[in-house]
Amino acid sequence: MTVPPALHSHESTEHYTPHYVLDAVIACLGAIDLDPASNSREIPNVPAARYYTAHDNGLVQPWKGRVFLNPPFGPGVEQWFSKLYLERSAGRTTEAIVLWKSATETAAWKTLTAISCRVCFPSARIRFVGPAGDEGPGPTFSPALFYIWDRPDRFVRAFTGIGAVWEVPLRPL
Ligand SMILES: C[S@@+](CC[C@H](N)C(=O)[O-])C[C@H]1O[C@@H](n2cnc3c(N)ncnc32)[C@H](O)[C@@H]1O
Repeated sequence: MTVPPALHSHESTEHYTPHYVLDAVIACLGAIDLDPASNSREIPNVPAARYYTAHDNGLVQPWKGRVFLNPPFGPGVEQWFSKLYLERSAGRTTEAIVLWKSATETAAWKTLTAISCRVCFPSARIRFVGPAGDEGPGPTFSPALFYIWDRPDRFVRAFTGIGAVWEVPLRPL
């Protein structure tokens, strides 16, 4: 199996969500209305009703309904979480789940946890899927899944099989 060297570190933006995680997302949300950071319109990895790719630039589009976000990792990642905060505040995003990492020292973590009410810490490292549909060894970072916003019981039920779900203390952004 050939795996691009950067796939399993935060240097790669092309690490796709494995299907057991998407199953839990759908179990929680009911359906995904929007993937704002999609790999492709033709062969999208996430079964959403709508997609924005890099060509559309999801950062400048409205995010309506139930959103699942696995953002392009890297130095600019916080702008995706600030955008989610704005869309949620505007009432366009009604509910969201974000797949990112446990990077507690970063500004991006602080932004994301300020708008999340639950975080799931997977009990095993998530094996992301590569652009060729292959699955490689575990990534070099610890993943975390964030739930936004007001039906946490459904998130707990859907994600307990993946890992421990923690309540996030309320605090201002
Ligand atoms: C981590 S991958 C996630 C792919 C897919 N959403 C999933 O969860 O499997 C992030 C994707 O966002 C795309 N992307 C990068 N910049 C973007 C932008 N400004 N707007 C929308 N998508 C973007 C990348 O091409 C990449 O395929």
